[in-house]
Amino acid sequence: MPPSLGPIPVSEIHSLIEVLGEAPQVSYAPPSIYPMSAPVFDPAGEADRSAPPNGPIGIYAHAPFCNYKCTFCFYATRPVPAEAEMARYVDALDRELSWIRPDTELTQLYVGGGTPTVLPTELLDRLLSAIFGRTTSGREVHTVECSPESITEAHVGVLRTHGIERVSMGVQTGSEGIRETINRRHDNRQVLEACDLLVGSGLVVNVDLIYGLPGQTEADFQSDLELVASRGVHSVTCYNLRVNEATPIGRLVTREGRLDAVDLVRWRELTRRVAQNCGFQQTRWHTYQRVDCETAADAARRFRDVTGWGNQFSVGVSARSRLNDTVFRNHKKYDAYLNHVEAGRSPVEETKALDAFERRLRFVTLTLGEGRALERASYEREFGTSFDDDFGAPLTRLTEAGVVRDEGPDVNLTDRGRLVYDLATRAFYPESVLQWMQERQDLVGTTVNLRPRAS
Ligand SMILES: C[S@@+](CC[C@H](N)C(=O)[O-])C[C@H]1O[C@@H](n2cnc3c(N)ncnc32)[C@H](O)[C@@H]1O
Ligand code: SF4
Repeated sequence: MPPSLGPIPVSEIHSLIEVLGEAPQVSYAPPSIYPMSAPVFDPAGEADRSAPPNGPIGIYAHAPFCNYKCTFCFYATRPVPAEAEMARYVDALDRELSWIRPDTELTQLYVGGGTPTVLPTELLDRLLSAIFGRTTSGREVHTVECSPESITEAHVGVLRTHGIERVSMGVQTGSEGIRETINRRHDNRQVLEACDLLVGSGLVVNVDLIYGLPGQTEADFQSDLELVASRGVHSVTCYNLRVNEATPIGRLVTREGRLDAVDLVRWRELTRRVAQNCGFQQTRWHTYQRVDCETAADAARRFRDVTGWGNQFSVGVSARSRLNDTVFRNHKKYDAYLNHVEAGRSPVEETKALDAFERRLRFVTLTLGEGRALERASYEREFGTSFDDDFGAPLTRLTEAGVVRDEGPDVNLTDRGRLVYDLATRAFYPESVLQWMQERQDLVGTTVNLRPRAS
């Protein structure tokens, strides 16, 4: 278990900010997931089609429907339509999946959204049948996302039938007032019943919580974590609120109201402390896993993040595939996506080919961002160049700031560095990308200040 850090003095956090820069106020993905953190794409030509190449692939399937629209959420979602419309959408997913070569090895499946469990059970069953009908699968842990008010025993039955081992359920907050602000439409009774149903059925259960929500206190967040931990869930993923301008929260929360680096470090220290007190240990920067639980440990060992390594084939509206170092993003507009697929045309709207430098950048940020040691020898084997020649300057800066520990054969984030893992990985970005991100940041408007309160 990583040692528990006491609160870092504010003056020290300010010294860190001098080196790392402020926390981004406009968010896409965290900087450890390049290029999604700075998504500048090129329009796709008609010929672009994300048919996956030979060899193993991870699959992401996007189910966009939700019972409500949370005000912070910037994922491609839409209200639940009539069943016939959902069936039409699942047909489109099925059609995209039919481009996979039969018996392709599946390295990891993640069905996300939206909320996949708002699909009627027959449609969820059809989607999973389409995926497993084209692929072969070993001991990988496959995941389906769900929400407290949509998951039912019948859905659990479908998941078990297809060998899905893990679910990830959004809870975000247990505070009634905050839940209203963010337009979540379930209560804590439903959260607890859903936890009991999922844990009781033998699934590995992750719960998502968010800190830094408008009006949220540290005490609020502490009781949220304690609430779900008490129900035997296997892991808790604690996200800081990421504010995106395209969301209602983005239009409401001022620049001053967003989490700065001092807030981030404080919340993360708190999260780590509370999680440890509840019997959880940190496995990735925002994920805490139950200790003394072989099911949780086994799942964590076998779980691979589909956004990470290897080829990833993604189906659905706005879904992003990554195949042979090119990212393909499907049409963002629901109708355009369906029309393209139904006409047998490529659903890809934009692409981004990663150049040699960007491939190295991705390797470095993913490795450190996932909490793993960056081995100089692996880097050299992979790219034929030296890590120090490519990234010597940011490495020196981060080492001197105590964020990174250079141990000769490999480089690691320090315990302190882990609290600012996203800011630390951003230090490896080239000037042109940082400038693009800064330009987005400069667009932030100002309206009402809803800064989260420290208790
Ligand atoms: C696509 S949602 C799936 C879960 C399910 N739809 C639900 O909300 O119950 C995945 C997770 O992303 C996180 N998330 C979405 N938008 C976020 C944001 N702006 N900032 C931080 N986390 C966010 C939430 O914790 C959410 O549970
Ligand atoms: S957080 Fe989940 S339920 Fe809320 S809008 Fe996003 S995908 Fe839908």
